Amino acid sequence: MIVTTAQLFKHAYGKYAVGAYNINNAEQAMGLFRGCIDSKAPFIIQISKGARKYTDKRMLEAIIRSAAEIFPDAIFAVHLDHGDEETCYDCIKSGFYSSVMIDASHDPFEKNVEITKRVTDAAHQKGISVEAELGMLGGVEEDIKVEEGHACLTDPDEAKDFVTKTGCDSLACAIGTSHGAFKFKGRQSLHFDVMEKIKARLPGFPLVMHGSSSVPKEEVDRINKAGGTIKDSMGVDPNEYLPAAKLGVTKVNIDTDGRLVWTRVHREFFRDKPGEFDFRPPGKIFMDEYAKFIASRNKLLGSAGQLDDLRKTVTK
Ligand code: G3H
Ligand code: 13P
Ligand code: ZN
Repeated sequence: MIVTTAQLFKHAYGKYAVGAYNINNAEQAMGLFRGCIDSKAPFIIQISKGARKYTDKRMLEAIIRSAAEIFPDAIFAVHLDHGDEETCYDCIKSGFYSSVMIDASHDPFEKNVEITKRVTDAAHQKGISVEAELGMLGGVEEDIKVEEGHACLTDPDEAKDFVTKTGCDSLACAIGTSHGAFKFKGRQSLHFDVMEKIKARLPGFPLVMHGSSSVPKEEVDRINKAGGTIKDSMGVDPNEYLPAAKLGVTKVNIDTDGRLVWTRVHREFFRDKPGEFDFRPPGKIFMDEYAKFIASRNKLLGSAGQLDDLRKTVTK
């Protein structure tokens, strides 16, 4: 069942965070749905601009609709990840998305407000929620690369002003994470002090944590043992998901970790079976491994086991 992110956030706020996982193809969708059903967790499917272009945006919609039929017990929202204004309008018009993210965080504050407000007004007319971003994460997202030195944490006072002026429904905050596999040099650290201040100014308002992959060391080690050359990677400590959820982080974005699972499975498979060229055996292994990974993250997010209680609130 496709629901709105607002319905998911209402149930989760202050108690647990909903995992928001990116998909690009059928294998990721199968692993994601299975992992969420196995762990009885609601979830958010994220579609990036790159994912919409990878095969065709209609292909992803068809995959998601089919997955919803194959897994009728699933409760999830469909979300545009890191949208620009034009892509947001396209998703709003399509009628398929529960929510869109307008990411004008690279623009100056006033311009970010102006763009976000325009998108929010258009989305709300169709009952669609809007996630906006304030502050700047390091790393690469879509086609924009932010050098570490230019990343900046969200200012809690600006966050309140921004939400009041734009009417957005959730806010992606820069609280120490970055996109990709190289998040920290040295110590892992989320800025709980900043989260606390934002929560104090925006009580009850859903916050979003991008760049939340944990980049498991054992996963990277296996990739490198099978021929990879991923050096100096480091992710978020996944034991910090729940403490962040208690401070209002209601959506936690995880994409890189799924790519690592894919890379590990395929590198090991073709290393061990160099004569093989059927892609379905490793595809099957990936779907199983991804389902296990998703279930493990949902446990850490606290969303595991919430499905039946949530169902009562969305079906009455
Ligand atoms: O934040 C970006 C997400 O990981 C999506 O990545 O734009 O390469 O699909 P992508
Ligand atoms: P990761 O690169 O940490 O998986 O972050 C994904 C993300 O924020 C998608 O919007
Ligand atoms: Zn992101």
